[in-house]
Amino acid sequence: MSKQPSSKPPWGESEPLSGASYSAIELGLDNDRIFVLDQLALPVDETYREYGDCAGAAEAIRDMVVRGAPAIGITAAYGMVLAARAFSGLGADDYQKAMARAGEQLEATRPTAVNLSWAVACCLRRAASHAEQTGSDRHADMAELARQIHRDDVAACKTMGRHGAARLQDGMTVLTHCNAGALATGGYGSALGVIRGAVETGKKIRVLASETRPYLQGARLTAWELHRDGIDVTVITDNMVGHCMQLGKIDAVVVGADRIAANGDVANKIGTYSHACLARAHERPFYVAAPWSTVDAATAHGEEICIEQREREQIARVGGRQLLPDGVAVYNPAFDVTPAGLVTAIFTERGEHDPGDLPLGQ
Ligand code: MRU
Repeated sequence: MSKQPSSKPPWGESEPLSGASYSAIELGLDNDRIFVLDQLALPVDETYREYGDCAGAAEAIRDMVVRGAPAIGITAAYGMVLAARAFSGLGADDYQKAMARAGEQLEATRPTAVNLSWAVACCLRRAASHAEQTGSDRHADMAELARQIHRDDVAACKTMGRHGAARLQDGMTVLTHCNAGALATGGYGSALGVIRGAVETGKKIRVLASETRPYLQGARLTAWELHRDGIDVTVITDNMVGHCMQLGKIDAVVVGADRIAANGDVANKIGTYSHACLARAHERPFYVAAPWSTVDAATAHGEEICIEQREREQIARVGGRQLLPDGVAVYNPAFDVTPAGLVTAIFTERGEHDPGDLPLGQ
């Protein structure tokens, strides 16, 4: 269970690892709690929820208090820090077993974003090296690893941002979908990192954010963070994209990813595939930006990706108001898969990639 939300950034004097004045997720200075910016409350309230155990981290991910593939991976890593603390008194074998169970609890929260299982696997590998260590050393070591995962993600976003920015020209209008920004990563953002990278080199970029029905990450979150940075952002509904393409109002599309299969197929927020089809029909480039931890070499192609189904309420109600007649069924897949053939290029911290020729062996 989370404590009551607090409205002040809770990390006191220290700078958040996100590099901004806000952060999707931070580990407390004593490695004993996490602070999660409540993305359910944005854009109206900027409040942080506090969790003191691994079950709390899992709850924050499952309930989408924190969301976005890299951000939930980092939250899972911090959840493993809280688990290492809780199990510090156990003998070596019981500690390994308890950490494995904690990892399973975290992984069960959301199935599509591979960054989650990637981060848990990193932490379990580290836990396996803890046999000879005391409980407090295990805990401190896990915290060091989780913070490194967080720092590496911010650095990856900045690097992929530079690679992607080279493809955006001064004066372009860029469509983005969902939120692949600072709120969805350790900081800076993947798709929004590309836009930030272009703006930082002096290019004038206008952003169209599709609202992203049903959960409205584009309207609530992308608009919030770009507007806060003074980047020109206009929100459109998802079904306006074709019209805007037809009128020549979109020059390029940049989105994030939850999982990239070995063949370059991209799972991302539901609606991404429709945008990619429209970009192809209108001969506009369609770019994907993601850290290398989103590339899943073990998944051969998009059809193998498990698509998360979310609750009926997301579609059946808006702002507490009932939209559908009682008893009417809802189909609510949270993600779709864009075939590699519709993707112009993928940007990671390793560079710009041809989606059909990812450097998997390197
Ligand atoms: O359901 P969400 O909000 O977690 O979905 C997020 C997305 O689809 C993002 O585009 C993706 O995770 C990339 S975030 C850098």
